[in-house]
Amino acid sequence: MEKENNNHKINYLRLSVTDRCNLRCMYCMPDEGIDFVPHSDVLSYEEMLHLVDVSVHAGIRKVRLTGGEPLVRKGFVDFLDELSSLEGLEEITLTTNGVLLTDFAADIRACGICRINISLDTLRPERFLQITRRDYFEKVIQGIQEAERVGFDPIKINVVAIRGFNEDEILDFARMTLDKPYHIRFIEYMPVGEHNSWSNEKFISTDEIKEKILEIGGLHPVLSNPFDGPAERFRLEGGKGEIGFIGALSNHFCESCNRLRLTSEGHLRGCLFSDSEIDVKGPLREGKADDYLIRLITRAIESKPKSPKGMSPEMRKCVRHMSSIGG
Ligand code: 5AD
Ligand code: SF4
Repeated sequence: MEKENNNHKINYLRLSVTDRCNLRCMYCMPDEGIDFVPHSDVLSYEEMLHLVDVSVHAGIRKVRLTGGEPLVRKGFVDFLDELSSLEGLEEITLTTNGVLLTDFAADIRACGICRINISLDTLRPERFLQITRRDYFEKVIQGIQEAERVGFDPIKINVVAIRGFNEDEILDFARMTLDKPYHIRFIEYMPVGEHNSWSNEKFISTDEIKEKILEIGGLHPVLSNPFDGPAERFRLEGGKGEIGFIGALSNHFCESCNRLRLTSEGHLRGCLFSDSEIDVKGPLREGKADDYLIRLITRAIESKPKSPKGMSPEMRKCVRHMSSIGG
């Protein structure tokens, strides 16, 4: 039974497999002194498989694996292999920072995963070091090439647009889609996470990015599919790839948001901007029946906000780290 909420289907679960990461992006984590979730509080892979299986009965059809950085968790590829054999899931995708893709891309592809999102906010090594505090730019570039080599299609590259940081690279990213099959997706910078240094001045709207891109050519709309969620898709004339926009703040986000989040410690969240969570790990570890767990998941789906009321760029910061929610 698929759940309707505000006239659209919630069919998409983002599962954070770990809150740990091998980067320290300025907008996501502090460099040091992070309170990671103790290992015993993190869902085991077995528990995650159980919860995904149950959520299929609440209407979930697509799972995106996120982190932190999913590839830093030991045994991730074996987990992926088991997840891909679960019945009822139509799609499994992965969001990664790309650092470990040279090692794992082929194995991930061999699990039948076709689509991948790689986060990369700059094409300049010195800026990469500045924003991620780690010197892994080359590894990420090689990781993207490896993902292409082993046949991921599409390869989506998530670019968080930040004024004063990468606004002068918007056209460089857009041009990449002319001769590469990549889908470059510009994401509006969001004020989430307690370590976020978000400010109104750093925010660049989707409209502004689109206008900038018009300097190099028209944006031709691409038909979206039911799993797209909030992304708007376009193509430059003659481009091999696509350009997408996630107007996390400026668009009618709630109406088209089809996602539910499960944190690595087993809490369900209906909305990134709301701190209300439903604990499913507790009941799971107490041995509650699947029907009970399905009801909890359904309740989380029903608790999703129905409108972006009160969501302005000035909106209050969410008290949890982005990394522990999984983006
Ligand atoms: N605003 C917008 N996007 C963000 N991400 C992490 N923090 C933010 C933020 N404050 C992005 C990451 C990654 C995705 C999971 O979310 O760069 O691409
Ligand atoms: Fe890691 Fe992603 Fe957070 Fe960067 S934004 S520190 S890659 S979890």
